[in-house]
Amino acid sequence: MNTPVSRALAPDFYHYEPSPLTAAVTEGDFVHLRWPDDTKLACHRFWLRENAMGQGGIDLATREGILDPAELTDDIEVKAAVVDDTGDLIVEWADDGQRSVYHAGWLRHVADNNHRPSSWLPEAISWTTDSIGEVPRVDGSEARDNDEIILTLLNNLLVYGACVLENSPTHEGYLLDLAERIGPVRDSNFGMLWDVKADVELAGDAKTNSTANTGLRLGPHSDLPTREIPPGFQFLHCLINEADGGESTLTDGAALVEALERDHPDAFELLSTRHWIFFNRGPGIDHRWSAPIIDYLPGCDTPTIRAFYPVRAFPAMANEDVSRSYDALRLFHRMADQPEFELKFRLTAGDIMCFDNRRVLHGRNAFTGSGKRHLQGIYIDRDEIMSRGRALNRDARSKCF
Ligand SMILES: [Fe+2]
Repeated sequence: MNTPVSRALAPDFYHYEPSPLTAAVTEGDFVHLRWPDDTKLACHRFWLRENAMGQGGIDLATREGILDPAELTDDIEVKAAVVDDTGDLIVEWADDGQRSVYHAGWLRHVADNNHRPSSWLPEAISWTTDSIGEVPRVDGSEARDNDEIILTLLNNLLVYGACVLENSPTHEGYLLDLAERIGPVRDSNFGMLWDVKADVELAGDAKTNSTANTGLRLGPHSDLPTREIPPGFQFLHCLINEADGGESTLTDGAALVEALERDHPDAFELLSTRHWIFFNRGPGIDHRWSAPIIDYLPGCDTPTIRAFYPVRAFPAMANEDVSRSYDALRLFHRMADQPEFELKFRLTAGDIMCFDNRRVLHGRNAFTGSGKRHLQGIYIDRDEIMSRGRALNRDARSKCF
């Protein structure tokens, strides 16, 4: 049997396969829909009105809702709800007698939960060095011109929180070209594109504004915990690395937090509830934020790890909790640096180390010797990674049909 072709528009710009309904039954404020496989969806009358194409619901040009909730009056009632010959939903309204047509494939994507923020994105998997072996690597030589490479990168970032794009061009500013394939770069007081550059001969130069620009070791940390919402992802592009030492490290904070909660529940409780004040000082700036080290931001299953000791400035908790919180903090940082959790590898010219700055802790060994080391970095917020990830996963799926 041929599937009938829908004549209805959807309230967005995506393509929906037909998914003919079998029944529509009005009961109180809801129209109850059913599909042949017994999938159900309850649609509130106001939600249906808001999603009516044209007719003051969804604007046909922008596909955005234009109905002010103040205009949702009690007389907006469903007079009749029926399934038409293509399986779409037709609603006849009591107040103005108009008929609205709803694409059954679009309704079905709501019934299937494909409208939720987690849709079209792979699920995160926490890792230890045993389970992952090494950081995922993707050949990035053609990344500027190839959506498949970008999609592989993004999916690795969403699943593991880390991926190295290797064989990338090594000219300065390349990260900004690459970011155009993904989304807007997040600016900060370090600039849109920032350098991590320490000629070993100049290590300790007092002119630098960041510990990153010295040859000092940087223990496992996450950048900018001084912000209400720290940058979601960080890309670090290795242009030259001739220094002795300076190996990079990555630790999955998600796995670390799981182990902490399982094996050291008291430490987990202290680190996820007691606040510290993070303070980013510099001429003309005064960024501060107060939050726990393990910060469960609203709407996020994975906690944001605020673990950059150069800018962790003051305990903001009862005095009797400070010693215990320091004990928990010492334990957390020691665990983060254990071989069980920490991947250690050397970046070579052309590597772009990409990672979830809120989930995965990064660090590096100290430099010695006389070689040069120059990295450039950008931040891209999680919203952008997820948005592009959804769009590309959706495209990839539709090409499979
Ligand atoms: Fe950093």
